[in-house]
Amino acid sequence: MCGIIGYIGDKKASDILISGLSHLEYRGYDSAGIALCYNGTTNVYKAQGKLINLSEVLKTKQEICDVATKGIGHIRWATHGLPTTTNAHPHTCNCKNFTLVHNGIIENYQELKEELVNCGCIFQSQTDTEVAAHLIAHEYGKTKDLLSAMQSAVKKIKGAFAFCAIHNNEPDKIVVAKRNAPLIIGVGEGENFIASDIPAIIEYTKKAIYLSDYQVGVIKKDSIKIYDENNTLITNKIEHLPFEAMAISKMGYKHFMLKEIHEQGDVVRNVLSGKLISPEHQIQLNEFKLTSEKIKNISRIQIIACGTSLHAGMAGKYIIEKFANIPVDVEASSEYIYRDTIADKNTLVIGISQSGETADTITAIKQVKAQNSHIAIITNRADSTMARLADSLLPVNAGIEVSVAATKSYMAQLISLYLLAMYLSEQKNITKYETDIKNLKQELIELPNKIETLLTNTANIREIAKKYSSYKDFIFIARGINFPSALEGALKLKEISYINATGYGAGELKHGPIAMLDENMPVLAILNTGIVYDKVLSNCEEAKARQAKLIGVTDYLADKDKDLFNDLILIPSISDLISPALNIVVLQLLAYYIAEYLGKDVDQPRNLAKSVTVE
Ligand code: F6R
Repeated sequence: MCGIIGYIGDKKASDILISGLSHLEYRGYDSAGIALCYNGTTNVYKAQGKLINLSEVLKTKQEICDVATKGIGHIRWATHGLPTTTNAHPHTCNCKNFTLVHNGIIENYQELKEELVNCGCIFQSQTDTEVAAHLIAHEYGKTKDLLSAMQSAVKKIKGAFAFCAIHNNEPDKIVVAKRNAPLIIGVGEGENFIASDIPAIIEYTKKAIYLSDYQVGVIKKDSIKIYDENNTLITNKIEHLPFEAMAISKMGYKHFMLKEIHEQGDVVRNVLSGKLISPEHQIQLNEFKLTSEKIKNISRIQIIACGTSLHAGMAGKYIIEKFANIPVDVEASSEYIYRDTIADKNTLVIGISQSGETADTITAIKQVKAQNSHIAIITNRADSTMARLADSLLPVNAGIEVSVAATKSYMAQLISLYLLAMYLSEQKNITKYETDIKNLKQELIELPNKIETLLTNTANIREIAKKYSSYKDFIFIARGINFPSALEGALKLKEISYINATGYGAGELKHGPIAMLDENMPVLAILNTGIVYDKVLSNCEEAKARQAKLIGVTDYLADKDKDLFNDLILIPSISDLISPALNIVVLQLLAYYIAEYLGKDVDQPRNLAKSVTVE
């Protein structure tokens, strides 16, 4: 989603702003712009589409780029108004002295706009951001001070925002503010940075201050001052940023998605490290803060998440209910929030989010936190807003995920849920699953090697991807613990190839979707040796009888059944219980190779954003 960068120092601001924005590109965007300040004037440059278009514009503005040492920049993911150059940020007031970039949504922008129009403001764009720009400039007209103008403007704004603002009359500073949208201040020597996410500034500094909601900051090249909502000067801790610049390089892979798929063996090792010592040892989960007494009192679990994280949660339900003997509800955060939900002190709420910044999940977590439930957050971003809301923070440490389509973060979430399920079971002293848990631990230890074996033999998957890339529709079926794998496989395919793909519980096919089956509808079936194997096989027969092209993903198939399938993808032998962790690698690769074969923008699919910070 939108990204912000700001710089003040002695270096060429344009280079730092463009490089910073390029590291935010992965978030998904549709236009970009920067404002460069020099000698008390501000020049705004914007372009529709990719950052390269903005760089082309800047090539003709070298005289400013060479001298400007302060600036702000933005990539926009359209919410209010089309993705045009006019609607791109930065936005200015009418006299062009004040300039603003903004992430988030101003909910009361229409009423503010009416008031500002009555005061004589003339609007150029359809954006809510331009309303904020006029509002802050209007307040500046009263106080002639950018800090107090920002402070009084934010009091009038409803909604979510991260602001980065400059005024020609105050050339030595950038003023920032935030509420429900992330913003960090990168601390340098004789220079400072502002960004909505770490990758934008990591190549320049490893030190940063996290701005909290309702705070306003004044950033100069050699000082950072932060004020709370009562205008008291406060000191925020300087934190060490968790990423290395290397982590945001493709390391020779054609796309970040392919690199991230290939990292999954190590991701599993990372998640298990220190927590799963051996099959004989109990799971160590020091981050989980409930005592075993309190764990015994948990009467229900609610898992709240969106998209891919929701699918991980759905798989989590199978594992937790199996081992911990606690009923689990899994719900999309966006559905959880606008109804009366029932939770209490004996409810464990698990929020799952790769980014930790998904607005729907944050709202849901805040809502349920007020009901005194224990909140566990599984996230890849221990520095995120959601992480800061956690009673128990379970970071998955998958490393930064750049490709918009989530792959390794899903794997990390899945493995964390296996660990959590076993941990809850062991803390409750449920002895009847001891052997099953011991076997699962052994399989988890072996999993990274199996993932890597699978990843070294992808020729068959590539062939199948090529063969099916011209189909317009796809169905994925599975049952039991792999039903979420079918949903996730379909989501991956539609996200990056724009092929209409849907996942179904295989048993549901005959209750409606079977009507769509004919020779133009490939059906991918996941079938692993286990309790639902024969059932899925029967569902495959039903599909075949309707001429559907059948692709099987399996760790075992009897010779007699092989003819049923047009194509087969064999994975290393694995138990049904842990097979989602291998099957998903196949489905990620299949989606990747189809999209790559079709020449799609794999890492930045159209209309999608990496962290969805609007509800
Ligand atoms: C799909 C994908 C999305 C996210 C969803 C929630 O590849 O990444 O479906 O899973 O937007 O995001 P997080 O996990 O950051 O809360």
